Amino acid sequence: MKDYLNYTGKVCVVTGAASGMGKAISDMLVELGADVYAMDWSDIQDKSRHYVHVDLSSKASIDEAFGKMPMKIDKYFGVAGLSGQQHNFEKTFTTNFISNKYIVEAYLEDRMAQGGALAFITSAAGLRFEKYKDEYLPIVTAQGWDQSVSALQKIIGSNDYPGPLAYGYSKRALNYFALSQMGTFAPKGVRVNVLMPGSTKSGMTDDFAKSVGGMENLINYTGLAGRLAESAEMAAPMVFLNSDMASYINGNLIMGDYGLESMIKIGMVPDPFDTKTFE
Ligand SMILES: NC(=O)c1ccc[n+]([C@@H]2O[C@H](COP(=O)([O-])OP(=O)(O)OC[C@H]3O[C@@H](n4cnc5c(N)ncnc54)[C@H](O)[C@@H]3O)[C@@H](O)[C@H]2O)c1
Repeated sequence: MKDYLNYTGKVCVVTGAASGMGKAISDMLVELGADVYAMDWSDIQDKSRHYVHVDLSSKASIDEAFGKMPMKIDKYFGVAGLSGQQHNFEKTFTTNFISNKYIVEAYLEDRMAQGGALAFITSAAGLRFEKYKDEYLPIVTAQGWDQSVSALQKIIGSNDYPGPLAYGYSKRALNYFALSQMGTFAPKGVRVNVLMPGSTKSGMTDDFAKSVGGMENLINYTGLAGRLAESAEMAAPMVFLNSDMASYINGNLIMGDYGLESMIKIGMVPDPFDTKTFE
């Protein structure tokens, strides 16, 4: 049998690995023979992978975590996120976006191995990122952690924005940022891709159900599926994107929405995503 995915012995870093999609990705990678570094602020008691504690809303914690990580990384899976229902705007945005930007610029630019790959999970909520980029570009283009946080604080100002408002905003910023990294990584043969899931069963499901007024309304974000995705159904395309089977797939934003975005494009349903973050 040929190992088309070619994860055997590969150093794979997964953030958000304690639950949902990040756990499902880690499980698949272990089964495929990868050397998995599972990062999360929740404990992971599983000897088949290395647990690395990290609070992604803290620069010091990220620095400490990467101090324990290998100097050569083959595949990075940026998966962790917060819905914003239980955390404030700044913590949600910092976890969902600034951490990824910082990890890429401070660590992955040096540590990614030739032929490696990065894949981020954003969200369908990050759609229309190209239309509303003026809202987040000052943060994307800021230098380093402190300036990124300052740029965010300047945008927030004295407004008491709710945590959930940071969700789509952070996902838009990450979509843009991920694509902007292609030029940095392509010379090393390192690819960068994004998966944008629709509603998926995970630790976040109750939060999202609450934000749209009930579990049955979440079905509206599942395209023609009529059911929520399983976390493993988002893990599989992520594992594919970072595998050798996707060696010419670079700079793609893949929808994991069972057709929702295509339904919007052909006018079958109205576009729920075409709104500014700050009115
Ligand atoms: N579930 C959905 O419907 C859905 C839809 C679209 C996108 N997403 C995205 O999918 C990704 C995975 O989420 P999930 O749905 O599997 O949810 P989940 O809550 O099951 O998993 C998220 C993981 O991230 C970890 N995490 C969160 N903040 C952290 C921090 N500051 N430091 C360290 N770890 C942290 C959590 O502990 C958890 O293990 C997220 O980026 C989320 O925004 C989810």
